[in-house]
Amino acid sequence: MNALPLSPVPATPDAFRAAMRGFMGVVSLITVGRGEQATGLVVTTGSSLSAEPPMIFACINRTSSSFPILKAEGQFGWQALGAAHEPLAHRFSGRTGVKGAARYDGAAWITLPSGVRLLADAPVAFDCELADMIDRETHTIVLGRVRAVHACDGAGSLLYSHGAYLALP
Ligand SMILES: Cc1cc2nc3c(=O)[nH]c(=O)nc-3n(C[C@H](O)[C@H](O)[C@H](O)COP(=O)(O)O)c2cc1C
Repeated sequence: MNALPLSPVPATPDAFRAAMRGFMGVVSLITVGRGEQATGLVVTTGSSLSAEPPMIFACINRTSSSFPILKAEGQFGWQALGAAHEPLAHRFSGRTGVKGAARYDGAAWITLPSGVRLLADAPVAFDCELADMIDRETHTIVLGRVRAVHACDGAGSLLYSHGAYLALP
């Protein structure tokens, strides 16, 4: 494949969004809330912050329906999605129009004593206590202290680039 270099253009929000389509993101799911309040969102901004102590972070738009619930609960689940999870990603990104607790339908979940729900067949999933929130522009950088680790071998990975999901075995 021949890559065609493009000339730099001013960094307007539209140019930035268009450029970010070429960035390959790892698709993660943040689960928040309990019972009727349960909801969650798909993010590509989640990653590890440190191992000592075990911490992760994600950047969450404060307009997301998950944000006020995450803030009120002070805890959340964070999981990388696997190769089979594209339908789940559509639900939790709001693309199918399904809201709130119904986003959890049709997948297997582990409910921890804390009430945090983790995706049973995620390649990696963490039970997190909300450690800090740093508001910047439209988003809040959410820091999570990892309390428990769950992993599932052979789940593969789900990536996102150029507006499409890509499953890796
Ligand atoms: C591939 C992908 C990556 C996304 N990454 C983020 C992200 O990092 N942070 C964020 O706040 N929203 C992200 N979103 C948007 C949210 O998943 C979701 O659409 C938004 O929170 C609206 O959800 P709501 O209907 O619950 O309000 C992403 C969406 C997609 C499809």
